[in-house]
This record gives sequence, C-alpha cells and structure tokens, in this order.
Amino acid sequence: MLLTKRISFKYEQNNQWVLEDISLTLAAGKVTGLIGANGSGKSTLFMLLLGILKPNTGEVCWDGQPLSYHKEALYQLRQNVSIVFQDPDQQIFYTDIRSDIAFALRNLGMDEEEVLRRVDNALTLVDAQHFADQPIQYLSYGQKKRVAIAGALVLDAPCILLDEPTAGLDPLGRQQIIEILQRIVAEGKQVVISSHDIDLIYQVCDEVSVLHKGRLLTSGDTQQVFLQTELIKQAGLVQPWLVRLHLEKELPLYRREQDFLGS
Ligand SMILES: Nc1ncnc2c1ncn2[C@@H]1O[C@H](COP(=O)(O)OP(=O)(O)O)[C@@H](O)[C@H]1O
Ligand SMILES: [Mg+2]
Repeated sequence: MLLTKRISFKYEQNNQWVLEDISLTLAAGKVTGLIGANGSGKSTLFMLLLGILKPNTGEVCWDGQPLSYHKEALYQLRQNVSIVFQDPDQQIFYTDIRSDIAFALRNLGMDEEEVLRRVDNALTLVDAQHFADQPIQYLSYGQKKRVAIAGALVLDAPCILLDEPTAGLDPLGRQQIIEILQRIVAEGKQVVISSHDIDLIYQVCDEVSVLHKGRLLTSGDTQQVFLQTELIKQAGLVQPWLVRLHLEKELPLYRREQDFLGS
C-alpha cells in the first residue's frame, strides 16, 4: 500500500507551495483516479510517490515504511512501484522496441529466456505485437504510448502509476488505452491514474481524489465524488456525461457507457 501523510512540497526555484498537506491512501487492489485541472499538482504528486522528489514536510510510505531516499532503497521501490510518464519520449530510449522493453530486466541480470518471455507478455498485453519489429520512430504517438506502458509493465511491479494515459490521443487511441487499463486491472495490479479525462476516470476507477491548486478537495468512492456538482466545478472540472444524464435528465446513474447504450 502506498500512502502519503500530510505531505507538502515546493520546487526550489519557486516559493509557492505546489502541494499542501496531502494525506492520501492508495489502497492495494483498487484503481484510484487522481483528477484536477492543469497545474493542480498531479504530476508532482506522482514524482513524490516514486521518491524522485522529496516532500518538504510529511512523508510518503510504501508497505508501512517511510521512503528512504538512498539509491539502493529507491531501486527497491522501483521494483514495486512503476510509472508511465505522460510523454512516451521521456520513457523510451532505444530505437528497437523489444530492446527498450527488455532494458530494465537485463539490467537486473535476469535470465535471457525469462526476459524474452516477459517482453512478449507485455507486448501482447498492450496489443503491440504487430508493430514491435518496427523502429520506434515509425510509430504513431498512440503506439509509442503503448510501448511505454509495456516498458512499465514488464517489471511486474504490484503498483503502477499512469500520468495522463489518454492525453493527446485520438478517440480510437484513447479507446485502446482504456482496454489496456482494464486488462492491467484484471491482472490484479494496483493502478493509479492521473488525468483530466473525466469520462475515463469515471469508467475505470473505484476511488477518486480531487486536487485543486495543490490541495486535496476530497477522496472517495468514484460515483459519490462525481455526484458533487459544486465540488467538481470548484476543481475546474466537469462531471462525467453519464453523471450529467442522471442529474439533468433523471435517468438512472449508469456506471459504464455499455450499461447505458445497452451493448
Ligand atoms: N520542475 C518544476 N519547477 C518549478 N515548478 C514546477 C515544475 N514542475 C511543475 N511546476 C509547477 O507546479 C505546479 C503543479 O504542476 P504539475 O504537478 O505538473 O500539475 P499537473 O500535473 O496537475 O498539471 C504548477 O504550478 C507548475 O507550474
Ligand atoms: Mg501533469
């Protein structure tokens, strides 16, 4: 379990608090959404959860222990918590896709047969088998995103953080990412998704936390959070379309598009 206890953070060159007094529990076995307008602090919070940044006050805990910021301890943490950055170019280093995904495993000194097996599984999970032999520069943005996700999955960490997984994607690319997320969840992984793609968060997450200007407005059950019209507005967000249908047209509160569309 990953949690934060009253953490506050500011960047050195900037005197403003970027996050203030955030206490958040990211329960194992749950899919948690972290929502907030641009600049509300979502990506910064992810860096703190990964130990890439250190809070000015408060602490981040993994498995009941406060993070230790030594190289070796952080290396251990990365075996348990992995991240998919918003920009795939931040994550992909090799032009050869299979080598890129295998990199972290080979670094661990893993047996080559096991490396190939894991790379293959990860490629299958993100539907990338059919383009895995092309050089990375020939891929679309959405395909690169899928390679980046495979690179994070291959370590088989129990917890995976995804920063804006659908940003910049067209509707089909977005739909593919949603299906991949559902597969990752079905594997029993703990998943934390930061996004302002409200409809994605509503459909995929069990729990949601709302950030606004570095403060946590609320955390709780997805439907309960999104039913709070004023709070969602205060956060600079809009309610999911299924919630609006319920509130404005007095239809039942559907959880998924398929439930409403009947397909
Ligand atoms: N490296 C940085 N140095 C200084 N300020 C930063 C840096 N990264 C982000 N910020 C500031 O921190 C705030 C939160 O940013 P960020 O965590 O990226 O929010 P979000 O991911 O929700 O858009 C913003 O005001 C942003 O300008
Ligand atoms: Mg961000």
